[in-house]
Amino acid sequence: MTLVDLSRRMLAVSRELNPTCEHVQGDMRSVRLGRRFDAVFVHDAIDYMTAEKDLADAITTTLEHCGPGGLVLLAPDHATETFASSTDHGGSDAPDGGGATCSEWSWDPDPADTTIRTRYSFVLRDRDCSIDVASETHTTGLFSREVAASARRRRLRRNLDPRAPSRR
Ligand SMILES: C[S@@+](CC[C@H](N)C(=O)[O-])C[C@H]1O[C@@H](n2cnc3c(N)ncnc32)[C@H](O)[C@@H]1O
Repeated sequence: MTLVDLSRRMLAVSRELNPTCEHVQGDMRSVRLGRRFDAVFVHDAIDYMTAEKDLADAITTTLEHCGPGGLVLLAPDHATETFASSTDHGGSDAPDGGGATCSEWSWDPDPADTTIRTRYSFVLRDRDCSIDVASETHTTGLFSREVAASARRRRLRRNLDPRAPSRR
């Protein structure tokens, strides 16, 4: 398995968790590995595509890396059709006594644009039971399934006929 992320720090964490996987630093909108795979999976990292062009470029990347008969799976946290303001929470403890909990609130400040906001609050417990509290706000993309499907169709059409005009 080959894992791609923009962030060196995230790749360092992943290398520890997934030592048998290949890791590559790259932007999902432009990275080209020069290989095709049986399956290309973009989980919630696809949420960081906040403009339609970025989403279309990321979809192009997945198609460029998918072999014949292969599978592309995009799994955003939300789609326009089903989005509703919500809260969520979770957490886990490590065997060494450390632990983390997270609460999050998602809402759509401007339904006319393609972004939503999520506010996270983290409580981090160290091995010695000392506690740190942190919070951050993420702006992420919100698109309808049809927007993603039509970007995919346009890209596939261009693959079949390279002279076909881009309508992105
Ligand atoms: C919610 S984290 C998911 C991390 C990890 N892939 C996982 O599933 O646990 C979202 C990740 O998307 C990465 N990301 C954001 N924009 C990206 C881009 N343009 N290309 C590649 N990765 C990106 C961030 O660096 C971050 O690590």
